Amino acid sequence: MGLFSNLFGKKMKSLEPQVPQADKVVEAKVQEKVSEVKQEVKNDIQKETNMSNKVKFVIDGKECTAEKGQYIVDAAAENGVYIPTLCHMKGLIPAGSCRICTCKVNGRNMAACTTPLEDGMKIENNIPELNELRKTIVEVLFVEGNHFCPACEKSGNCELQALGYRYLMMVPRFPYTFPKKEVVADTPKIYLDRNRCIMCKKCVRLIKSNDGKNVFAFHGRGAHLQINIDRKLAATLSDAKAQEAMDICPVGAILRKEKGFDEAIGTRKYDKLPIGSDIEKISN
Ligand code: SF4
Ligand code: FES
Repeated sequence: MGLFSNLFGKKMKSLEPQVPQADKVVEAKVQEKVSEVKQEVKNDIQKETNMSNKVKFVIDGKECTAEKGQYIVDAAAENGVYIPTLCHMKGLIPAGSCRICTCKVNGRNMAACTTPLEDGMKIENNIPELNELRKTIVEVLFVEGNHFCPACEKSGNCELQALGYRYLMMVPRFPYTFPKKEVVADTPKIYLDRNRCIMCKKCVRLIKSNDGKNVFAFHGRGAHLQINIDRKLAATLSDAKAQEAMDICPVGAILRKEKGFDEAIGTRKYDKLPIGSDIEKISN
C-alpha cells in the first residue's frame, strides 16, 4: 500500500502543469494591478461617503459647502465668513451663553455656535440688524463689569475689546454698574480678576487638574453668579496649563503671574489686525 501511494503521488506530481517563470511574473503583475484597482474603488467609495456628508448653504449671499451637522459658526469660518464669538471654542461642547454669534437662520434668530448645519440653510450674519445687536451685547458686557482697557494686561489680545472696535462702540448707551468684585491673588501662578469676567465658561470647560478635576467653577445665581478658582488645584497647575488658562480667557480675567506685559502694547494680536480678519482672509 505504501509503495503504491508513493508511486501514485509521484505520477500525479508529474502531471501538474509546470508554470514557466515568465507566467509567474505575469501572475504577480496581475495580482498587483488587482490590489491597485481594489484600493482605487475603496478610495472612490470613501470619497462618495464624505461627499454625501457635505451640504450646501448660503451665508450673506455666498454659496458655501461644509459638513452636515457641524456648528454653523465653524462651517462659516471654513468658508471664510466670520461670525463673532465670545464663549465658543471649536471642539468644546458649546455653552451658548453670550449670544454674540446670533444669526438669522432661515429667518429666525439662532445662536450659530449651537445650531448644527443642515442642507439648504439660508443664513444672514453680517447685516445691520445683527451687528447692532452685537454692539449692544458688547456694551452691556462693558457696563456690567469693570473693564479699564488701558490698564489691563490683556489689552490688544482681548476679544471683548476687539469686538468693541469691530462694532464701533464709542460710549456704552447704558449706565455703568461698577459692581464690587473680588480678585483672587493668592494662588501661585494665576491671578483671577472677577471684574473682567464675562461668564463665558471657557475656563470651566477646559482647564482641568492632573486628575481631571475642574480648576474653575461658577458659584451663586443671577446677579451673584461669579467665577471661582480652586486654590489647591490651581497650585498644582503646570506653567503651560496656567498659560493656557490665560490664553483661552477672552478677556483679562485670568492672568498668569510674573508674565505681565511681556508682549509690548502695539504689537499684540488685535493691535495689528481687527478680530475676524484671520478668517475673512481665507476668502479674499
Ligand atoms: S474667567 Fe475668563 S474664561 Fe473664565 S468664565 Fe470668566 S471670562 Fe470666561
Ligand atoms: S459664541 Fe455663540 S453664544 Fe457665545
